[in-house]
Amino acid sequence: MGILQFSLQRLIYMLLVLPLFSPNAKLTVRAFTGTYGINYGRIADNLPPPDKVAKLLRAAKIKNVRIYDANHSVLQGFSGTGLELVIGLPNGYVKDVSSSADHALSWVKDNVKAFLPDTNIVGIAVGNEILGNNNNQDLWGSLLGAVKNLYNATKKLGIDDVVQISTAHFSGVFANSYPPSNCTFTEAVSQYMSPLLDFFSQMESPFCLNAYPFLAYTYNSDKIDINYALFQANGGIYDEKTDLHYDNLLDAQIDAAYAALEDAGYKNMEVIVTETGWASQGDQNEPAATANNARTYNYNLRKRLAKKKGTPLRPKSVLKAYIFALFNEDLKIGATSEKHYGLYNPNMSISYDIGFPGLKSSSAVSLKEIQARGSFGSNTFVLSVSSAIFLLIL
Ligand SMILES: *[C@@H]1O[C@H](CO)[C@@H](O)[C@H](O)[C@H]1NC(C)=O
Ligand SMILES: *[C@@H]1O[C@H](CO)[C@@H](O)[C@H](O)[C@H]1NC(C)=O
Ligand SMILES: *[C@@H]1O[C@H](CO)[C@@H](O)[C@H](O)[C@H]1NC(C)=O
Ligand SMILES: *[C@@H]1O[C@H](CO)[C@@H](O)[C@H](O)[C@H]1NC(C)=O
Repeated sequence: MGILQFSLQRLIYMLLVLPLFSPNAKLTVRAFTGTYGINYGRIADNLPPPDKVAKLLRAAKIKNVRIYDANHSVLQGFSGTGLELVIGLPNGYVKDVSSSADHALSWVKDNVKAFLPDTNIVGIAVGNEILGNNNNQDLWGSLLGAVKNLYNATKKLGIDDVVQISTAHFSGVFANSYPPSNCTFTEAVSQYMSPLLDFFSQMESPFCLNAYPFLAYTYNSDKIDINYALFQANGGIYDEKTDLHYDNLLDAQIDAAYAALEDAGYKNMEVIVTETGWASQGDQNEPAATANNARTYNYNLRKRLAKKKGTPLRPKSVLKAYIFALFNEDLKIGATSEKHYGLYNPNMSISYDIGFPGLKSSSAVSLKEIQARGSFGSNTFVLSVSSAIFLLIL
């Protein structure tokens, strides 16, 4: 049994890694396996240590993970797990990395190259939600330089074919997102967005979108049917220009991004969702933030992703998304909802049941099992989980 599982793990490794080295393979970085990923936000003082988190993720069969920095305990904790990790260059570093190719090179050396290949770092997200955000307008002009310097650094270190550079955008970059076909980039961001898209299209990097039907609904609850936001039965909307019908808000938000990209001249760029989620608790003015709605959104979203389907406007581009977020984060500031996006509580029990056995089994009880096994033979656990990943990855 153990040997079979070990060879399965080898096989997974070969299937995932060999194509990169085959001489005929196209050297495009592929920073996503399957369709389902998660954001491991860590603005909290009560989260389990990273190696436990890696075990939880493997038990839940979630392979694609994003963090918002390059914390070395996380990079170490994920070593040897096969989890595909996108790390972040925090906004506070963007200016420096943009103005100095040397600093970019040492950042990539210290935070990426030093951990490869044991830690499977597949991408660097450069800053987060910079363009269109008035709080960091001083960074708008630095973003492209940081992207270019980091890309050159990965090239210099010979890892540009395994580490994809990207940056995530929020709804603030868009104007007129209703109906989807009417969407464009705002005038304010266009001059920064165009050269960025130009560079990303050369690198074949996707457009990374943080999309929150929860927020769109919360701010427009008079205009939006909550069932449309929650992937439940509803009349949907009709987009006259494209003659397309939308039965859920997330698909509409993604197609709005595709429309803006097409308008800017990047019809072939793929959109991936780097954040989406629904809060399970909120303030008085966030009445949709309930455990029941969060469960419904996340349950239906997971079903939607498992179908491996595109959107009405791009039916062939299979939708991939990272859920926000793995844990509730007690130190987040702002609205109460900010602290309650997690699928899991800090003690690794589920926040609510989204109906999938992998997530259900990752309760506090299975944490105890993990801990118990970890103390006298974590390998057994890890190897049996990896064969489960092989069979059940979404
Ligand atoms: C990295 O994460 C660990 C574990 O969560 C934490 O103890 C440590 O302070 C973090 N390091 C930095 C530099 O933030
Ligand atoms: C990146 O490297 C290329 C080729 O080595 C060079 O022409 C270019 O100026 C570099 N870009 C930056 C931003 O350093
Ligand atoms: C498209 O956006 C423009 C500009 O905001 C607006 O005037 C127009 O009504 C929108 N078109 C539709 C069909 O809603
Ligand atoms: C885990 O945390 C949740 C949320 O705080 C709590 O409801 C639950 O009782 C805890 N479970 C255990 C086993 O401590």
